[in-house]
Amino acid sequence: MTNRVYNFSAGPSTLPEHVIQTVKEELLDYKGIGASIIEISHRLPIFEEILDSAKSLFSELTNLPKNYKILFMHGGAQMQFSAVPLNLMSHNFRKGSYFLTGRWGILAEKEAKRYGKTEIVLDGKEYEYLEIPEFDNDSLDSGSCYAHLTTNNTLFGTRWNSFPDTGKVPLVADATSDILSREIDYSNFGVVYAGFQKNLGIPGTAIVIIREDLIGNALPETPKLLDYGLYVKENSLPNTINVFAIYVMNLVIKWIKKQGGVSEMEKLAMKKSKLLYDVLDNSNFYKILAHPKNRSTMNVTFNINENILLEKFLNEAENEGFFALKGHSLVGGIRASIYNAMPLEGVEELSIFMKYFEKKYG
Ligand SMILES: Cc1ncc(COP(=O)(O)O)c(C=O)c1O
Repeated sequence: MTNRVYNFSAGPSTLPEHVIQTVKEELLDYKGIGASIIEISHRLPIFEEILDSAKSLFSELTNLPKNYKILFMHGGAQMQFSAVPLNLMSHNFRKGSYFLTGRWGILAEKEAKRYGKTEIVLDGKEYEYLEIPEFDNDSLDSGSCYAHLTTNNTLFGTRWNSFPDTGKVPLVADATSDILSREIDYSNFGVVYAGFQKNLGIPGTAIVIIREDLIGNALPETPKLLDYGLYVKENSLPNTINVFAIYVMNLVIKWIKKQGGVSEMEKLAMKKSKLLYDVLDNSNFYKILAHPKNRSTMNVTFNINENILLEKFLNEAENEGFFALKGHSLVGGIRASIYNAMPLEGVEELSIFMKYFEKKYG
């Protein structure tokens, strides 16, 4: 494709070029039916094939245990901030526990308070969310209905390297910004969910992976379209699904399989992030924001001391074809989002640019 930049956007974010090419080729006439995938019924067998393929391929890529269901739901990741308490809080003991390691966890906890009590088991505020504090088991109420964490903190560039053991309390994970970028054992989780817009395609839809015993207990006030039980019963089709999002997601995970699966994505993510962290670690000019023990392999955050140089960096980078490197307004500085679809060459070229920039102005 012509005129493509290296797109470091945090989300929506870069897609594999092969996926976009396929969408382009198939858009007018999907597999010879004479109509586009975005103009046919979600109930037709030709779409159900896509839906089934997306589910079975995701299970294969993640070695998903048999007692888990996969749902596709509207509203992106934040809709799950409501769906989780509505489906997992028990009718007579409405309590959810939250690990606050960044903005998304904070918002999730705030939303849960509408439906019941919340408990904060850990809060990274004192580290300005650039480090994840140690988890003390005693801070978790063993009677809590679930414990919610964010696997990768998109704004701050931190992640959990290993996940806390919450015992009998089901662990719920928002994996929006690192799903399918590293191997995880799903049997350690009650629910894992993710918005599509980083490693799964385009925004507005979320995948929910849920252990079977947690399904079917939604609170009475749960809106119909947030009830996990209904999505299981209706094969994620309680109303018109976002056909296009599922279609793109299926292409994205087929692409992941072709690259060698999640283990290859993980190796690539380690390699790409190391390239950037190495430049940063060897520099007195740039400052890495995340604590070494929690560095993300998806969002690399750093800064330059002088504001004027920061502006210059962002402008010059954009002129060189490195798009959307500006950090989130709450954090400032620079953020390179290097999700699965970011090619190694993009990161290699960025690391060369960073060294060049330091040499010129440092
Ligand atoms: C970890 C995480 N959770 C939640 C969200 C919010 O996602 P959405 O806009 O799909 O609600 C984001 C941002 O994309 C995110 O990075």
